[in-house]
Amino acid sequence: MADIITILSNSVSETMSIGFKIGKILKNKRLPVIALLYGDIGAGKTTLIKGIGKAFDIDEREIGSASFVIVSVYETVPPLFHIDLYRLNDGADIDDMGLWDYLSVDSICVIEWAERLGNIDGWTVRISIVETDEECREINIEGIDEKDWFI
Ligand SMILES: Nc1ncnc2c1ncn2[C@@H]1O[C@H](COP(=O)(O)OP(=O)(O)O)[C@@H](O)[C@H]1O
Ligand SMILES: [Mg+2]
Repeated sequence: MADIITILSNSVSETMSIGFKIGKILKNKRLPVIALLYGDIGAGKTTLIKGIGKAFDIDEREIGSASFVIVSVYETVPPLFHIDLYRLNDGADIDDMGLWDYLSVDSICVIEWAERLGNIDGWTVRISIVETDEECREINIEGIDEKDWFI
């Protein structure tokens, strides 16, 4: 069984640092990388992705929390796709937006509101974020080896 790593964050900047570390690790995974993010509004999914983006030298201000943007493409090497499924609610919408095309490109694809996808195969990491207190978050990561995290 795969490890699940649990990390507690006590601030926005800690969540970003955790994201940065995840981003560094994802860069070494076999492409395509599919990172599924779970958690309610305000959990910190977008904040974590700002940290992941830093591992690709993307300025955190370029990564939006605007839920009206469904796909943001960053022309890094490999390309980073930030997909936010918040506004989608059924399988038809997901097919219409071409999600499966994004996932088949050799890219790093980070998906917010992965709840909308149900069970899908071929994911690389699954990350769930739970608000445990105003400034505290519990972050659970599946798909990263403990030996790669605690070095
Ligand atoms: N430890 C923390 N990590 C991440 N966000 C936090 C934390 N503590 C408080 N927050 C706040 O929670 C909100 C997270 O927003 P965001 O990252 O857009 O969440 P989501 O994308 O999951 O809806 C922000 O307002 C941020 O200031
Ligand atoms: Mg968000």
